[in-house]
Amino acid sequence: MNKNTRHFLRVRDLSYNEIQKLFERSTLLKKQVKENVFKQELQNRTLILLFEKHSTRTRLSFEVGMQQLGGNSIVLQMRDTQIDRGETIEDAARVISRMCDIIMMRTFEHSKIEAFAKHSTAPIINGLTNEHHPCQVLSDIFTFQEHRGNILGKTISWIGDINNMCASWIEASNILGFKLHVSSPPEYKHLLEELNINQNNVEYFADPLEACMQSDLITTDVWTSMGFEQEKNERLKSFERWTVDKRKIDVANKDVVFMHCLPAHRGEEVSADVIDGPQSVVWQEAENRLHFQKALLEYLIKINEA
Ligand code: CP
Repeated sequence: MNKNTRHFLRVRDLSYNEIQKLFERSTLLKKQVKENVFKQELQNRTLILLFEKHSTRTRLSFEVGMQQLGGNSIVLQMRDTQIDRGETIEDAARVISRMCDIIMMRTFEHSKIEAFAKHSTAPIINGLTNEHHPCQVLSDIFTFQEHRGNILGKTISWIGDINNMCASWIEASNILGFKLHVSSPPEYKHLLEELNINQNNVEYFADPLEACMQSDLITTDVWTSMGFEQEKNERLKSFERWTVDKRKIDVANKDVVFMHCLPAHRGEEVSADVIDGPQSVVWQEAENRLHFQKALLEYLIKINEA
């Protein structure tokens, strides 16, 4: 077991100060990319990406990021490894972590990434599990701050499924001090209760319109996350009133921004006039995965060698 390795499996694995430093570094790294400046901070370093689910943004942003930092990346689909033929996660972690400097994993159960991390000598980054999506949420907050300044004291509205994104927003709200309005159909409210949060900055709303009032950021995700496809038809019916549409934008603050981690389904969780409208910053949000994760890669490699 490697008790001392610092991993990033959920938002709360980083402190307030660490997050601020990562945002500052992300700003600089983004500026450098725009100026065509590429410093080789991770030259000869190797990132291994292990995927159990599909991905476009996560894979690309980590691979491109590593390349821009002068390092290498190797993508492994877990179904192509011996894990698929019965090798234990613990043994795979012991072996894979000896071959690289850092690992990103995307798994179904969060318990799987935790088991891997326990036996890995290299730091692990969570690139999404059923329970958390910390890289996405911190990249989203970085994006929000680029557009609207410090998130402290602001009101963020999470509309739709109480999923991994929502759980990571909840953790971030506690560390960074913003209000989080969560609205989902009442029959899904138990998912919020199961997160067992004890935070008075998180409030549940049965009415999605009310949850958007005075909001600085309205954000959502697909109604059916990867791994829950068998619930799709039932969810389409339950979430009907939870589409982020123009009415919800209109009750929010005048300068509200809209975010979606993507991929999106226009006409389901978001209307086309919102995601393609003036409040939407979804493309900047997607790009910022690259800049934030470069800062994260550098930081985790550095602190684990200190
Ligand atoms: N938002 C996100 O994680 O995108 P991918 O599933 O394409 O990686």
